[in-house]
Amino acid sequence: MKLLATGWGKAARLALLIGTLLALYILAQARHDERAHIREQAVKLTPGCADKLARYGLAAGASYTSPYALAHSGQASIKRGYSTEDVRAIQRGCNIIDDLQGQLAADPARERWNSTRFVRGTHTSCDHCHQGIGDKQTAAGAPQAGSLSLAASWVMADMYDQFTGILLPYELRQMQCYINSSNGYKPNVADDLIRDVTAYSRFLAAALDLRFGNHYAEQGIDEVTASSTLKRGDDYVRGAARYKEKCAHCHGPQGLGTVVDGKMQYPAVAGPNAFNQQSRNNFSFVSTILPGFLCRNMPLGEEGSLSKQDCRDIAFYVSNMPRPAGDKDGPLAALWQQLMMRVMPPLIQAVDTWQGHDAPRDTGT
Ligand code: HEC
Ligand code: HEC
Repeated sequence: MKLLATGWGKAARLALLIGTLLALYILAQARHDERAHIREQAVKLTPGCADKLARYGLAAGASYTSPYALAHSGQASIKRGYSTEDVRAIQRGCNIIDDLQGQLAADPARERWNSTRFVRGTHTSCDHCHQGIGDKQTAAGAPQAGSLSLAASWVMADMYDQFTGILLPYELRQMQCYINSSNGYKPNVADDLIRDVTAYSRFLAAALDLRFGNHYAEQGIDEVTASSTLKRGDDYVRGAARYKEKCAHCHGPQGLGTVVDGKMQYPAVAGPNAFNQQSRNNFSFVSTILPGFLCRNMPLGEEGSLSKQDCRDIAFYVSNMPRPAGDKDGPLAALWQQLMMRVMPPLIQAVDTWQGHDAPRDTGT
């Protein structure tokens, strides 16, 4: 009798194990089919991507000739063409950079590979920093120096990271941006999100006729060091005044950004939707990058109008506004930053109102 019972017990355990494995297998298969299905769908482009990709003549075919290269050098640069599958990957990559969270998508989850899994904020997007959908150009149509161009960074596909000295492939550099610049989590190196953005960056490089291994001025940031200013030191108070004058009408008096109809019109530079404390954009972590970004890319429409001293002062001020803790800051810092992000903005607003200032409000959340 006892022998029979243990026999049944064993069989039940075995059945449970096989059942669990089978369920996991079916789940993995379903996920795989879902991804294959998304890959085969026609892509609905964001208005920005529709415009850009049409201008660069993206189409499936045996060869690709860049209209940009033709217009700029007068010579046709003929390259190997793209399959329809390639074209869809490039289109999805563009959409991801332009609209990471799918605010312009009919079905955000599917059209953006559920990218919201990887970001904590509700309004962060790659294009906030990698402007012009990763290909920012001056009014004259030349690539903007120091604009974090994805095309120019692709042709430096395996690059030494200047801070760690480690050779980072393009995929890893994207992953870094998910963690700290977008304050989120790291996608898998072979995630469709990463692959599509890589396909898009590679296409941009072909469209702009960039040469592999070359360094271009639009790659990365034109850093602004303390020694390149008048050496008066970084001035927080001056930064606050300049921020109020030059930035607050777009990014909000407390840097929380401006949201119109649920869509981010001007991104947050502080608070839950901003880069975190361990992002290289954070002045107190790396002091040269944010000033470099500002000098080349802000204020929008008046790029290049700030002095180096302005850029450093403003960056110093901005980085002192409350923002999420970084991935290596630990739970206490995370808790503290959460507290500061929740408590400070309403408090400052209340004090302003109490003092009788008709202070403009941040609309970002
Ligand atoms: C808050 C600003 C910010 C956001 C948002 C951001 N990035 Fe970046 N990104 C940067 C900065 C700054 C660098 C350069 C860092 C450096 O020089 O070490 C960079 C570098 C990169 C690079 C490497 C470029 C190079 O030339 O080395 C890639 C690729 C990249 N980002 C992709 C992305 C993707 C994809 C997203 C969206 C998920 C994103 N970034 C979001 C600021 C940002
Ligand atoms: C006319 C409105 C406007 C003004 C003025 C302006 N910005 Fe921006 N800023 C933007 C927009 C819009 C973006 C997002 C980029 C895009 O969509 O092209 C942006 C992006 C940024 C980013 C990167 C995004 C991020 O998530 O961190 C920072 C930092 C920034 N601005 C700081 C500043 C500072 C500092 C000033 C003042 C010197 C300033 N901006 C002035 C509109 C503005």
